[in-house]
Amino acid sequence: MAKGQGSQAEKMPKAAQEARLTEIERVALDGLGDLRDLEAVAERAQTFLGRNGEMNRALEHLVDLPREERAEVGRRANEVKGRLEHAFAAQREAIEARLLEGHLREEAVDVSLPGRPIGRGRVHPANRTLRQIADIWAEMGFAIYLSREVETDEFNFGLLNMPPHHPARDQWDTFYTTDPQVLLRTHTSPGQIHVMRQRAPAPIRVVLPGMCYRYEQVTARSEIQFNQVEGLAVGQRITFADLKGTLTAFARRLFGAQVATRFRAAHFPFTEPSAEMDIECFVCGGVGCVVCKGTGWLEVLGCGMVHPTVLANGGYDPTRFSGFAFGMGPERLTMLKHRIEDIRYFWGNDLRFLEQF
Ligand code: PHE
Repeated sequence: MAKGQGSQAEKMPKAAQEARLTEIERVALDGLGDLRDLEAVAERAQTFLGRNGEMNRALEHLVDLPREERAEVGRRANEVKGRLEHAFAAQREAIEARLLEGHLREEAVDVSLPGRPIGRGRVHPANRTLRQIADIWAEMGFAIYLSREVETDEFNFGLLNMPPHHPARDQWDTFYTTDPQVLLRTHTSPGQIHVMRQRAPAPIRVVLPGMCYRYEQVTARSEIQFNQVEGLAVGQRITFADLKGTLTAFARRLFGAQVATRFRAAHFPFTEPSAEMDIECFVCGGVGCVVCKGTGWLEVLGCGMVHPTVLANGGYDPTRFSGFAFGMGPERLTMLKHRIEDIRYFWGNDLRFLEQF
């Protein structure tokens, strides 16, 4: 009893205490459902259920009552407390659920939104032609053989029947390294020697695509680097008719079944006889125009029967073996096909050019 005595100015009867509990419950629950944040709920819980809260302060008056009444009011108080605790917890959960829902909604991924466009790359026009050419030769039974871009003077020239100081070397202006015997290949033909030495005496049907380099003035018609596709067939009883038939079949696959071809005599030190293959100008149909410079024909590649000296350098007995070889430039063919006027576009890295293909 001693404990409650200090606040005992006037005693509060049971009915008043019960009314007070009822009032506390009413006020505590009033608008509880409208509270929108957890702090507000916590504050209200503190106000009513906290150590110095309304409930505890109401209970201070229990001591005013006789024992039975005290028990009764105490039970009522506990019920109210229980209901308030329950109501506050429920409101906390409701707020948390709403917050979670809000976050989920804000962070939701709209899968129906169109994605950011990816700047798709594409194959360079020269490489496209290169692949197309390689595909055609593969279909015709030619394996693809990759040969080195850094060569020796011997392979690029000597073994191809151009000994030192041979005048034909002037046709290939060359990038030399600090070692005068080591250079950047000026054509894919040195690959012929590599393949032959690797395969002799087995028959050969290969194409050798790759980059070549020439120490030349860069102009609309010539670049210092460009691709070539070399071809080589070696075997017994291979004739010039095989060369013509094979290259004509190739031209029909690349340029269309109707294309007309012609072979013009030419000269290369590593083939004998040598020729250049032309196709009928597809711009003017052979009548003559600016593209074919009035001739009606477009030069497509160089070719010839492999020179006996070259066969021997490759490890084949030229009295028993023969073969044909050819070389073409995919950039040049791409220029013809798409009427590209300047070979420098291929290395210009200009998207306005590249995106057209
Ligand atoms: N290598 C020659 C060139 O670069 C092309 C060629 C290859 C000619 C094979 C005949 C035989 O011009």
